[in-house]
Amino acid sequence: MLAAYANTVSSDDPLSALAVGELPDPEVPDGWTTVDVVASSLNRHDLWSLAGVGLPKDRTPMILGCDGVAIRRGHPHLIYPVIADASLPDETLDPGRTLLSELHPGTFAEKIAIPARNLLAAPEGWSAHEAACMPTAWLTAWRMLTTRGRLEPGGSVLVQGAGGGVATAAVRLAATMGARVYVTSRDEAKRERVAGLGATALPAGARLPERVDVVIETVGSATFDHSLKSARPGARIVVSGATAGHEAPVDLRRVFFLQLEIIGSTMGTRDELAELLIFCSEHDLRPVIDRVYPLREAKKALAHLADGDIFGKIVLDHS
Ligand SMILES: NC(=O)c1ccc[n+]([C@@H]2O[C@H](COP(=O)([O-])OP(=O)(O)OC[C@H]3O[C@@H](n4cnc5c(N)ncnc54)[C@H](OP(=O)(O)O)[C@@H]3O)[C@@H](O)[C@H]2O)c1
Repeated sequence: MLAAYANTVSSDDPLSALAVGELPDPEVPDGWTTVDVVASSLNRHDLWSLAGVGLPKDRTPMILGCDGVAIRRGHPHLIYPVIADASLPDETLDPGRTLLSELHPGTFAEKIAIPARNLLAAPEGWSAHEAACMPTAWLTAWRMLTTRGRLEPGGSVLVQGAGGGVATAAVRLAATMGARVYVTSRDEAKRERVAGLGATALPAGARLPERVDVVIETVGSATFDHSLKSARPGARIVVSGATAGHEAPVDLRRVFFLQLEIIGSTMGTRDELAELLIFCSEHDLRPVIDRVYPLREAKKALAHLADGDIFGKIVLDHS
């Protein structure tokens, strides 16, 4: 089968570690099933894997990809990428939790082996490309805003960065929830585009018209101080990524005096993914897709993501 995989890892030149070619069909662990993948979408996680973050060289070759849509019994199903102890009330807290492409081959292939529980029927009327965007970036944004950020109706949100998959999802979700949404971006063209999604767009580091209830932080060192300064007393700063660097000074006086909560968040549960799909269906909310590439052109697609000049999700078509 055709697959895009890490053949090795390289922190200096992650794309050089990528191979696209034929691999044997997946081995199927007990209790798992094999399905045909028809579309997948890219995440920064795929670039981290190629750089060796979370994927040691001795685990290569490893098929990349967390997100995908597969056909089961004739119907498209989203692939929930968290492999964890499903008996826990919150499987994301399982210390043995792993994402597809870390220990088990990922979605950038014509076939995947997956526990049947990890397949969720795609909403009616959605294209496979749209559905393939949801399981990582959109689920992460959903949990950040709801379970972790506890956004209330009529609340306010700051999303750091405009173009990323999590950022565009957070903007669309928060705006649909009725929140006042502020977004920062270094790029004027992205600011214009994100304003069209229902947000007030500002240059990176700009003072907001008000301090906010919830900050969606995935950028890290470049924006964290601004996140602290933009938070109102009692606000939640929810962190799920650190694209620009993971070391950021924290003014502790601001944390205790304003009683801020700095909260980590990672992915979401299968139940949260099901809730997210219902929310999106009810509000006819669809992901923003930047561009679609054929699976065979995965290298071009990942180079585009690495470039940073994106707005929304990059999708791979497997047909
Ligand atoms: N914990 C989890 O479960 C989870 C899930 C998904 C993603 N993540 C992490 O979250 C992060 C975001 O992922 P993603 O796939 O949504 O997109 P991404 O491609 O990593 O997003 C880049 C975003 O960060 C902004 N940005 C990048 N470098 C910046 C800098 N130096 N200064 C200011 N802004 C900068 C960009 O904003 P502008 O270009 O608009 O300025 C863009 O919106 C990644 O680190 C990823 O690994 C974690």
